[in-house]
Amino acid sequence: MRSVVVTSLGVLTLAGLLAPPAEAAPAVHTPPPKEVKRPVAEGYGGAVATVDLDASKAALTVLRQGGNAMDAAVAGAAALGVTEPYSAGLAGGGFLVYYDARHRKVTTIDGRETAPRAMTSTALEGIPFAEAVSSGLSVGVPGSVAQWDLALRKYGTMSLRQALRPAIEIADKGFVVDQTFYDQTQQNADRFADFTPTAALYLPGGQPPPVGSVFRNPDLARTYRELGIRGPAWLYGGDLGREIVNTVKKPPVRAGATRNVRSGLMEVSDLRAYRALERPPTKVTYKGLDVYGMAPPSSGGSTVGEALNILEALPKIGLHEYLEASRLAFADRNAYVGDPAYTRVPLGDLLSDGFAKERACLIGPRAMPHPAAPGSPDGSYSACASAAPAASAPEEKKEGPETTHLVVTDRWGDVAAYNITIEQTGGSGIVVPGRGILLNNELTDFTFGPAPGDPNLPAPGKRPRSSMAPTIVLKDGRPLLAVGSPGGATIITTVLQILVNRLDFGMSLPDAVAAPRASQRNTAATQAEPAFTQRYGAELTALGHTLTDVPGPPAGEIGAATGLEFLRDGKVQAVAEPARRGGGSALVVGTHR
Ligand code: GLY
Repeated sequence: MRSVVVTSLGVLTLAGLLAPPAEAAPAVHTPPPKEVKRPVAEGYGGAVATVDLDASKAALTVLRQGGNAMDAAVAGAAALGVTEPYSAGLAGGGFLVYYDARHRKVTTIDGRETAPRAMTSTALEGIPFAEAVSSGLSVGVPGSVAQWDLALRKYGTMSLRQALRPAIEIADKGFVVDQTFYDQTQQNADRFADFTPTAALYLPGGQPPPVGSVFRNPDLARTYRELGIRGPAWLYGGDLGREIVNTVKKPPVRAGATRNVRSGLMEVSDLRAYRALERPPTKVTYKGLDVYGMAPPSSGGSTVGEALNILEALPKIGLHEYLEASRLAFADRNAYVGDPAYTRVPLGDLLSDGFAKERACLIGPRAMPHPAAPGSPDGSYSACASAAPAASAPEEKKEGPETTHLVVTDRWGDVAAYNITIEQTGGSGIVVPGRGILLNNELTDFTFGPAPGDPNLPAPGKRPRSSMAPTIVLKDGRPLLAVGSPGGATIITTVLQILVNRLDFGMSLPDAVAAPRASQRNTAATQAEPAFTQRYGAELTALGHTLTDVPGPPAGEIGAATGLEFLRDGKVQAVAEPARRGGGSALVVGTHR
């Protein structure tokens, strides 16, 4: 590794920056004393929850320095890019829902990756999914950095350079490898081994770094530093962009590897053309509460919102109704939701009470025949339209635990719910040489086709449909809840189930997050965690539901949620998972007012 010069401010001098990037050389050291991750914290002055203690601490540091929730969200996301690099990173994308306390408004920032301009509707046709996963072809134009920049400029108080500091420190000093990081590395070991810089970084000595060792990513620290100094243009048209394009076009495959690695279509002009977008949120009213979510190209807000509307139209709400409402909302999501710049998404109708009532009347005392047909969100609704099952349902890709979610609030009452992803756990598996960053494989979220009329086929510059569902709930115009999760399309059902657990079944937020989960996405069988099947399997099977196990890895787990609840007198409860994905970390700025 080349030597670098660090000033008293911890910033690299330009001389150090301009040298050619070196290959990663992570070091494994004796760990510092173990700190404890806690899944629930209550207090004042700001709070955060992520899947990871170091990332939560990074966001908390920024809050304590006087930063607001947006500053802390960016700092937390950048830190997750270090400690959760298989789920998050600057070469990925994400969706952020934000409550701006000063203006009492909810907004969203879309940092979704885009297809390169050379990508046509048939570009993925006939390509085996597994092959697309580890390829340059599936790498979308990264959105995270433009999203951080827009988010900070419009709603933050810090510069990107300041917000990146905690992440740089973690990347420099290292973090303690836990079982989740080890397992995720192990699960990816075959393909990581086939890409030279990936193997050098994540398989030191040919093996995943052992649990308890300290993992450093000096190349990523340097990349973040340089990004802080040079700004987003360094990626969107500058030298970092050129390095990414070169890597996408000619993935650094190990000599002798037998994997068919397709090259990508990205050009520097695609990076130059990229824009993060501020969009209005989706909104539904549920039981007198305002539920805000992410609009298309994510299907998160529309599908969670439609399902809630359907539930509200029913005389009673139980687990059977939760599964059926989700089934119907997924039928509509699959038929109608894509990037709104390319396909007409009938969002207003999908979220209308009239449509929800028409859909709700299809729910009877028993599970409906599979597959549910999509409805007609056309503005003309009868009290109860009959519907035959569809002849077929779109084939669903295997949903893994990919992606991550953080929540943060500050002393002023701003709230961020932020989903971040590089798509599959481990993304494309391709690390940019000398940069310590994994490239996303977000374009596998497109429908591969042939699928005439599908709203989610690729197109030049198009954003693939997402399931990310960062959600903020207001009561009388003030935050009550914020929640979100990873898990591909199961993100939607996890968020929906947590809301139903909390708002309908009367659970506390920690219980609502911890409760066993099931996910019905207009599939013949409902995926269910073992504890869910054990507790509710008999009663649901008697109603015609079929429950099936959740395939791994990690087997038997759906999602890894984080959430906030705003209690009385300014007290906030931050909540992470007690067990899934190894358990998360909730922190508060202070425990007393
Ligand atoms: N890549 C996960 C999602 O966008 O839903």
